[in-house]
Order: sequence, then C-alpha cells, then structure tokens
Amino acid sequence: MEVYADYSATTPVAPEVSAAMMEVYENTYGNPSSIHKTGRAARHIVDSARRDIAGFLNANPKEIMFTSGATESNNTAIKGAAYKRQHLGRHLITTQIEHHSVLHVFEYLEKKGFEVTYLPVNEYGEISLETFKQSLRPDTILVSVMFGNNEVGAIQQIDDIAILLKDHQALFHTDAVQTAGHLPLDVKELGVDLLSLTAHKFYGPKGIGLLYVKQGTELEYQQLGGSQETKRRAGTENVPMIKGMATALALATEEMDARNIRLMQLKEYFLNALQERSIPFEMNGNKNMQLPHITNLYFPFSDVEIMLTLLDMAGVYVSSGSACTAGSIEPSHVLTAMFSEDKRTKQSIRFSFSYTMNEEEIDYIADQLLKIYEMNKERSEY
Ligand SMILES: Cc1ncc(COP(=O)(O)O)c(C=O)c1O
Repeated sequence: MEVYADYSATTPVAPEVSAAMMEVYENTYGNPSSIHKTGRAARHIVDSARRDIAGFLNANPKEIMFTSGATESNNTAIKGAAYKRQHLGRHLITTQIEHHSVLHVFEYLEKKGFEVTYLPVNEYGEISLETFKQSLRPDTILVSVMFGNNEVGAIQQIDDIAILLKDHQALFHTDAVQTAGHLPLDVKELGVDLLSLTAHKFYGPKGIGLLYVKQGTELEYQQLGGSQETKRRAGTENVPMIKGMATALALATEEMDARNIRLMQLKEYFLNALQERSIPFEMNGNKNMQLPHITNLYFPFSDVEIMLTLLDMAGVYVSSGSACTAGSIEPSHVLTAMFSEDKRTKQSIRFSFSYTMNEEEIDYIADQLLKIYEMNKERSEY
C-alpha cells in the first residue's frame, strides 16, 4: 500500500480542474494581449477567472494580480511595500514562523537597512496580540503575519491584528496559502491590504498563484515589460493555469464545509488509531485553533530522519518541516520558535491529510508507526 499524507506540501490536481485546463490548452491558445478574435477569446478566460476569484475573496477584480505562486506573491507584497514606503519609516513586523518565502525576504530587507521585528510564538504557535501591540511603532510600514501555518497548522487572529492596525500607516499582508479551502477568505472581513495564495495547495496546478492588492495600495513592482496585470506584473498570462486556479478555488469554496468535516473526522480517527496502538505521541499545537488538514506530532522514541526514511520505505509519504526545505535536515524554524527542547524539533513529523483519504489509509499509517515504535521502544521516555 502507498499513502500520500503530505497535502500541505502539495495537492494533486482535481479532475474537474485538469479538464477545465485541457479545454483551454486545446481550444484557446491566443495571447490575451492580442486584439483579434483569437486573443479576445483568451482575454475572456482571464477576465472571467479574475472576476470569479475576486468574488470568492469578496474583492474587486482589479485587486487580483496573477503570479507564479505564493513565493512570488510574498516577494512582491513585502519588497514592493518596503521599497515604496521607505520614506514613511523603515520598520517591518513579521513572525518567527513564516514560510521561507516570507522570512528570507525580510532577512534580505534587513541587509538593505530595514529593521525587522520577528514576533515570537507560544507553544501552540500563536503570536500574542499584546506583544504585537508593543512592537508596533510610528515608523512601522508593513506587517506580515501568516493566516495558517504550513508545519503545525496554527491559525493567527488576522482580523484582530487588522483592527489594531486600523488607524496605523502600516500595510497588512497575510500569507493565506494553507488556509485556502479551509477558512473563509473574505478580504474585507479579514481587513488585510495584501493576501497571497498559490493554487497547488487547493487541488489546482503548480506555478500559478495570486496576490490580492487592496485598491489604493501602492507597491514598487519588480517585473517590468508589457502592460499585463495593469502594468504591475509584465509577462504573457498563463491562461490555462489561471482557468485551473479559478476552477479549483470555486470547488474549494463550494465544498469547504464538507471537506473540513471529513478532514476533522480523519484527524480524530488518526489520533485515536495511535492511542489504540499505544504509540506515545504529543501534538505540536492546539487542536482547537488548527487547520483541519494538518497534524504535527512529536514521537518520543525516534529521530525524524529515521522515521521519515522508514515510513518512505513502507510507502507512507509525510514530511518534517516545510516542503520547501525537504531534503535538508535542519531543525524546523517553526518548532524551534515553539519549543525550547531539542527533542521536539528533532522528533516531530507533519501529517497533512486530504478529504479524499479513507480510514484504511489512516490505519496503514498508524500500523507503520507502530512498527517503528516497536523497533525503538527502549528509547522511549514513556
Ligand atoms: C505557507 C506557505 N507560503 C508560501 C508557500 C510557497 O508557495 P509556492 O511554492 O507555490 O510559491 C508555501 C508552499 O509550501 C506555503 O506553505
């Protein structure tokens, strides 16, 4: 048996999504910038996808900018805001648990003379609003806090942060990548100026994403050339993938409640399956403030590299740390921010599930974990 349980690294493309993309690949090859009929057909697909996506986010279509994924969206939002607003101040705020496509941009900006506050988190991966308030300064120009964490699933109070920023000059960006399809993404209710998404986390294709840019928000855009995306991001639009992302977001929005219910059942089933087998574990995070598809567990009997290798050999595909750092055995910066003990960072695994999975697959994962536990029992502290 083979079980993929790494859906926060990426999801497969849903059949409806690939069908919608194939239709475009086969029939609509025009360049949306061409003014003839072939071009206009492609433009129509891009425009209607933008309208649909804007609708799902409660945004205006003009506020949706297509990108190659969240890495680009995060880079554009953070560098764009910092450079455009440096005359207003040079202080930036983010958290210690952001994805590297956010963290590395802030580290780069520090080298360019900006000052960055990296907010700490508690053992559940949550920032404190009090600490945030204390870090806010008159010269803060940008705050970037992720909505849902990709390693432990911790959810931050984005709307409460937005309220604290209401009368402040700072722009508010959120990386909502992992939240898409799991929590409502209403940009007005969230109160954000900038929001990043990437389609391959909600059963869409890889290499396409978006940045929501609230009307009136000025950024310094890097990609110069043609006048696509209202001159904010030059380059011929990826028409089939834009169609794919819109189709995937429609499904994710429509089916959100049903998928979440299924995911919560699967998570509960998994935790019970481990308990029934008397496998010792502790959750890294707070189950009540957690994305439904992610469970990060500490196993007090085996190092993560050994576990990942044994699981891989048994056909169970899971991760430690974020997918983008997979292959490296650096301890996760997220777990390091949450816990002081070394063992938590070295002996934890992220399981991320899909609504398409079944109990048999979950039992198979638990059985493989039991085998590893039995081999390493003498190391267990329990
Ligand atoms: C929270 C988060 N932000 C950003 C990204 C980057 O997305 P992409 O690799 O599609 O650019 C990821 C992907 O792992 C992610 O999980």
